[in-house]
Amino acid sequence: MRFASCTGKIEISGIRKCFEGAGPGAINLGLGQPDFDTPDHIKRAAIEAIERGQTGYTPNCGVPELRAALAEKFRRENKIQCSPEEIMVTSGASEALFLAIAALVDKGDEVLIADPSFLSYAELTKLVGGKPVGVPLDEELRLSSEAVLSKVTDRTKLIIMNSPSNPTGAVGTAEQVRAIAELASDRDIGVLSDEVYEHFIYQGEHISPARFSDNVITVNAVSKTYAMTGWRLGYLAARGCALEQLLKVHQYVQACASSISQAAALAAITGPQECVARMRDEFRSRRDLLVNGFKEMGMDLIVPDGAFYLFPRVGDGDAVAARLGKAGVITVPGSAFGAGGKEHIRISYAASRASLEEALRRMRDIL
Ligand SMILES: Cc1ncc(COP(=O)(O)O)c(C=O)c1O
Repeated sequence: MRFASCTGKIEISGIRKCFEGAGPGAINLGLGQPDFDTPDHIKRAAIEAIERGQTGYTPNCGVPELRAALAEKFRRENKIQCSPEEIMVTSGASEALFLAIAALVDKGDEVLIADPSFLSYAELTKLVGGKPVGVPLDEELRLSSEAVLSKVTDRTKLIIMNSPSNPTGAVGTAEQVRAIAELASDRDIGVLSDEVYEHFIYQGEHISPARFSDNVITVNAVSKTYAMTGWRLGYLAARGCALEQLLKVHQYVQACASSISQAAALAAITGPQECVARMRDEFRSRRDLLVNGFKEMGMDLIVPDGAFYLFPRVGDGDAVAARLGKAGVITVPGSAFGAGGKEHIRISYAASRASLEEALRRMRDIL
């Protein structure tokens, strides 16, 4: 078989490689998923959907009740004015990211992404023939409008924002988010805002760029918020004309998201939200546990305000992650997220407190 040149340019995720060769008893701080189970009321809604026979295709953009609930969620939580017709339900945030990039990026178009950032942004851009352009972060590991502006050219088609960020945990300030949304709007550049960690913020506030501009596609998912990564259920909000373009891709690559997961997502979005607050409080205390442990070790660390990652500066991130792996603690070298991350490692605290305490003991000698 002869494969397309675009797939040849794509790398297998550097994160997966970190798990290979991990011995038994290794503590895995490499994973980007909550270690909690999906709340019971959400599981029950899925079981009931199966028993009701809700097992066929749904409308391409999702069941009407879920689209209506998501439009209401965007209005209430994100101050984004949108109608149910401007919502699409997708197979995870991953599919929504792909749809947006595929619908917007032509061969040779430049896509501005934070360096370091979540791996998919650069790889999906390359998959469609676009050119990812890394934007260095500021000292607090945030994306500033000045840095973004310095990378804008005639070919810039899209700016990808991700707050709270994977891998840094940084949360963009209202001023930064607004300034980037406005500079994009002024130049008719699209913005793709990946907000999957919006509910895991420990300081500050989540601000959606779509509050300030119509040029934004807002991507989210129930994956992280409700501990539902395996249900593969995401969604996006885009202005009507943009949604139509995205639909052209979605209907052929996916047809619709899982009918059962949509029933579960409806229960998640419209049901009690205490489960989210409980997870957020637990993540906050785990973050504090690690931050205090690292401070005692004298590590160079910016305390992250969100998500469930720490991104300490450790010198040679590849070498340190390899040494930690041998000592039985799996982390991800920052270089996996872009050259700008090469002096860092990413540590996920989506692991039990007992594991984090043991990991700190093992890390003490190496860090
Ligand atoms: C920033 C970010 N966006 C998107 C995703 C993918 O989300 P989903 O599982 O809903 O496809 C992840 C998963 O790790 C992520 O960290």
